[in-house]
Amino acid sequence: MCGIIGYVGKREALPIILDGLHRLEYRGYDSAGVAIVGTKGAGPNAEGGRVKTSRAVGKVAMLASSCAGKTLDGTAGIGHTRWATHGKPAEKNTHPHADCTKQFYIVHNGIIENHEELREELKKQKHVFKSETDSEVIAHLLEDAYKETPVLEQAVQSTLRKLRGTYGLAVVSSYEPEKIVTARMGAPIVLGLGEGENFVASDASPLLSHTRTVLYLEDGEMAVVTPTTHTIVTLDNKAVERGTETIEWDADRMQKGGFPHFTLKEIMEGPEVIENTLRGRLITEDGLAKLGGLQSISEKLREAKHIIIVACGTAFHAARVGEYMLEEYAGIPVEVEFASEFRYRKPVLDEHTIVIAVSQSGETADTLEAIREAKRKGATTLGIVNVVGSTIARETDAGIFNHAGPEISVLSTKAYISQLVVLALLTLTLGRERELSLTMGKKIAEALQELPKKIATILKQEKEIKKLAKKYAKYEHMLYLGRKYNFATAYEGALKVKEASYIHAEGCGAGEMKHGFIAMIDKEFPTVAIAPEDSVYDKMLSNIQEIKARSGRVLAIATEGDTRIGKLADDVFYIPKTIEMLSPILAVVPLQLFAYYLTLERKLDPDRPRNLAKSVTVE
Ligand code: F6R
Repeated sequence: MCGIIGYVGKREALPIILDGLHRLEYRGYDSAGVAIVGTKGAGPNAEGGRVKTSRAVGKVAMLASSCAGKTLDGTAGIGHTRWATHGKPAEKNTHPHADCTKQFYIVHNGIIENHEELREELKKQKHVFKSETDSEVIAHLLEDAYKETPVLEQAVQSTLRKLRGTYGLAVVSSYEPEKIVTARMGAPIVLGLGEGENFVASDASPLLSHTRTVLYLEDGEMAVVTPTTHTIVTLDNKAVERGTETIEWDADRMQKGGFPHFTLKEIMEGPEVIENTLRGRLITEDGLAKLGGLQSISEKLREAKHIIIVACGTAFHAARVGEYMLEEYAGIPVEVEFASEFRYRKPVLDEHTIVIAVSQSGETADTLEAIREAKRKGATTLGIVNVVGSTIARETDAGIFNHAGPEISVLSTKAYISQLVVLALLTLTLGRERELSLTMGKKIAEALQELPKKIATILKQEKEIKKLAKKYAKYEHMLYLGRKYNFATAYEGALKVKEASYIHAEGCGAGEMKHGFIAMIDKEFPTVAIAPEDSVYDKMLSNIQEIKARSGRVLAIATEGDTRIGKLADDVFYIPKTIEMLSPILAVVPLQLFAYYLTLERKLDPDRPRNLAKSVTVE
């Protein structure tokens, strides 16, 4: 969703901020803007001391060209990519927003819930609003607060006390030009520390080309950043001491590396991703997984009677596969729930419940709140997270990192397969402490190790998938059908297609087909049937026959060497054989590529699906 970058130092701020905004593009946005604090002297009347802005609807490139015609010199500034919540994408709604005197500029991620009442009060005091956003109230409140206490951080502090809702915020002012004040409540803020320069951002991606030394704010904290200092306090002004962290991802991994799109690059990284997720974690001869991040809760895990997995979107589909793995091989009852539902109902939890959050970004608002709710109710929480340092990673009692590397594409692909691998490793760990035999443990461990090679053979057949996409791109609707372990694969395959190609695709548990969905089937409504040779293979063949009997076209995902399915389905894509519980990891890869090529066939950009944001940090 919205992205923030701020710079204060000795270099010209504009190019750094524009570059940062480019690097934040992956989060999804509809407009972008910058505010640069003039260098020559402080105060509204000082020569060059004023804050200058530029804003544009559309891509960061549009903003860059609008900046080209202006003088935006200065060594401090803030920038923002906006994903509209309150007020449509329009220049007037694009951040930064200013107060009436144009001395305070703010960029804001999150939602101010009491913005309407604040706006009404401010209007009564003759404040004039320029935008329809909830965020603008912050700038006007600051204007008033600064009159009372003319110190920027104190004015920010008293403003924040009036807000209800969520914010990741950065503020600059012409009164104090070498300073950015930033604060966090529910929307992440990270400080990047350099030599004689410092940065503020909503995630680490725009910082990596400048510094790897970062520091994350916690909710209810505010930081004051100058070129050479950073201080953190709580909203009630208590000093916070926090050590820095070093980011291991390097900036190169956040580039396309010769691929036309991040989506394709990340799908193609599959074999390497699995190797990284598995590295150092398997003890094959003992049929065990060694997950260091679980040590602190090992006792709780041994005594666990119930697992609830909370997640959203693609991560939710990974959780569904995890449920089947854990119940079959670890024998623990598992429930999977949309985080957005879990947090608002009254789940029954106790100290024997483990609540697992699966989240690539570690910042999804609903998943984070679900975890907080679970903690309040006394459950032990565990995060399966890709982004190190993210809020969910920090707030859960224990965690397993995916090690999938930065996922830039809005479509989650490589993170999904790494989530499935982590869930398989967790199954081994919990299973071997319970009823999973050494023989089966070894079989799972060996099968996991073979996955990278098997994915590589699928990826080599990219051209075949491209041809299939050419055939199917003309359809407006598609059904994705799967059973048991590949029930979730059907939903995930359909989600990928919807997200990027805008073809209406529906996931369906194959057993449910006859309970309604079959009414839709005709020659214009093809089916993608995920039918590897597993314990429900014959049932899938029956489903395919039923579709063919109603003139539906079928593209099947089947196991190499299968001689039956080709006689029924119109098209077949073959994947290597693996054990049933790991088949979703292989089956999803051709579906990811299929969605990618369908999108290209429809002349759309898979890296920039409309209306979507990479990380959903508001509910
Ligand atoms: C789909 C997709 C989303 C995310 C969902 C959860 O391609 O990317 O459905 O999976 O928003 O995000 P995380 O995993 O960051 O919590």
